[in-house]
This record gives sequence, structure tokens and C-alpha cells, in this order.
Amino acid sequence: MIGEANAGDDPADGWFPESVAASYDAPGGVNSPDVVTTAVDVLEDLADGPVLEFAVGTGRIAAPLAARGVPVSGIELSRAMAARLVDKPGGDAVEVTIGDMTTTRVDGRFSLVYLVFNTISNVTTQDGQVDVFRNAAAHLRPGGLFLVEVGLPDLRRLPPGQDTVPFTVTPGYVGFDQYDVVTQEFTSNHVTVSPDGTGRFRRIPFRYAWPAEMDLMARIAGMRPKYRWADWDRSEFTAESTKHVSVWEADPGMLSVPFEDGGISGG
Ligand SMILES: C[S@@+](CC[C@H](N)C(=O)[O-])C[C@H]1O[C@@H](n2cnc3c(N)ncnc32)[C@H](O)[C@@H]1O
Repeated sequence: MIGEANAGDDPADGWFPESVAASYDAPGGVNSPDVVTTAVDVLEDLADGPVLEFAVGTGRIAAPLAARGVPVSGIELSRAMAARLVDKPGGDAVEVTIGDMTTTRVDGRFSLVYLVFNTISNVTTQDGQVDVFRNAAAHLRPGGLFLVEVGLPDLRRLPPGQDTVPFTVTPGYVGFDQYDVVTQEFTSNHVTVSPDGTGRFRRIPFRYAWPAEMDLMARIAGMRPKYRWADWDRSEFTAESTKHVSVWEADPGMLSVPFEDGGISGG
């Protein structure tokens, strides 16, 4: 983050420290009941036993899913984010392990592992993203499902020689993404200017991967494509889609060392 350091933020919480967690659950947008309910409906439908959310955050999705009676566990990097879970109905039933979703293992085999709200892109290397897929597969029982929800990069708005796409330009706020199409890394940049002229600049790093690259990551991890939707409403994914909700199925037969403790081994 570029800008003022916030006293009270723990660097171990990464990009989601206390100062971000404090307002993460603000009403509206992705916290709207209709947005949350549509996602939870799909996840409940796919679940066939215990589920695991990678990067569970404040429990925006995990808590309402647990409140419906689905056994939910979570992995989360930021203690500040995870601390918010218990405040939500269903949140106290979610078992959270603090750790990195590329490496952290939790006990049990799950019917569904899910990673929503663009968070695969918070892992900024291809190797790291492959590790996310392998770690997901390692937590699945045979036939279990891995679901990812992520936006598509706005590359079609980049003419030759340009690397920047603005997404909001208003008098007090300018937001833009800056792409490196060689590494597939990009930054989301947020410039906020207060009426008194003081400003704040936040730059957050991401990496995009096209859906086909994710299919290959899934294959490396021993999973095959099952569904690809344009959104949680299960609408058709097309060339005009701006995001996707994709689901892969664990297939132990795709790996040379297929079984380990009754689950599939990502190696
Ligand atoms: C955009 S929030 C999404 C939180 C929640 N899944 C939701 O839908 O509201 C991203 C979350 O991912 C967490 N995160 C980022 N990288 C992570 C990693 N490598 N391992 C575990 N959690 C991570 C952040 O701390 C943050 O809580």
C-alpha cells in the first residue's frame, strides 16, 4: 500500500489489515443480501458435506452458508479480517485456520473448496496460483469440487502502446488498473482527494489468469472442468462475459500418485 501507514495495522495481515477490515462489511455492493444470497444458494447446492473456503475473510459468504447448516471451515491470512466472523449469524460455527491458502492444510476432506470475490488474483505469481489449485485438490475427496469466482481483465480496452484502464473517474476519486501483459501482473490504483486537497494513493498488486490457464492449473492439480458460468445466476459464459464462476471436479485418476489418506494428492 502506498500512502500513510495506519497505526494499529499488523503487516502480517497483508493487504487486509485492521484499517481495511473495519469497513469491509459496510452495507451495499457485494455485501447486499441479494448478492450474498445468490452465491450462497449455489454453494449450498454444490455442497455434499463439509466445505472449505479459501481466504474466508470476514465470513461474508461462509457465515450465511454455515447458518443454513452446511459445515464450513476457512483459511485466512488476515487475523483482522477473520476476527469479524464471530459477529455474524452462523459465524461462530465456522472453523478458521490462520494461514496462506497456497500452503496451509486443515484436517478433513471436503465436498467443496471455494475461493470467491477475485481472491485467486491476490496470489501474484503463476506458481502461487498453481499451488492454490493443488492445495484445493489436496483438501477434496474424490469427486469433490473446487469453485473459483473471478473477474476477467479488461484487456480488450487496451489499444497498442497503452497499459492503463480507468474504471472510475470522479472529482474526488480516480481508480485505474495498470496491466503488464507479459507477466500478467496488474495493479489496481485508487487515488482519493479530500475537499481540503489532501490525498491518498493505494496500489494493490494482482495477477490475472485467463479461464483456459485456470483449466490447465486444475489439470495439473488433478481436476477437470465441470461448470463455467458468467455469474452466480449460472448464466452462459460468453466472449462478452466480464467474470466467471468456474467449477472443477477432483479426479484422482488424472494424477500419477492418485490417493493419499483417502483424498487426492496434489503432489
Ligand atoms: C476480497 S477479500 C475476500 C474475502 C471473502 N472471501 C469474501 O468473499 O468476502 C480477500 C481476502 O483474501 C485474503 N487473502 C489474500 N491472500 C491470501 C492468501 N494467500 N491466503 C489466505 N488468505 C488470503 C485476504 O486477507 C482477504 O481477507
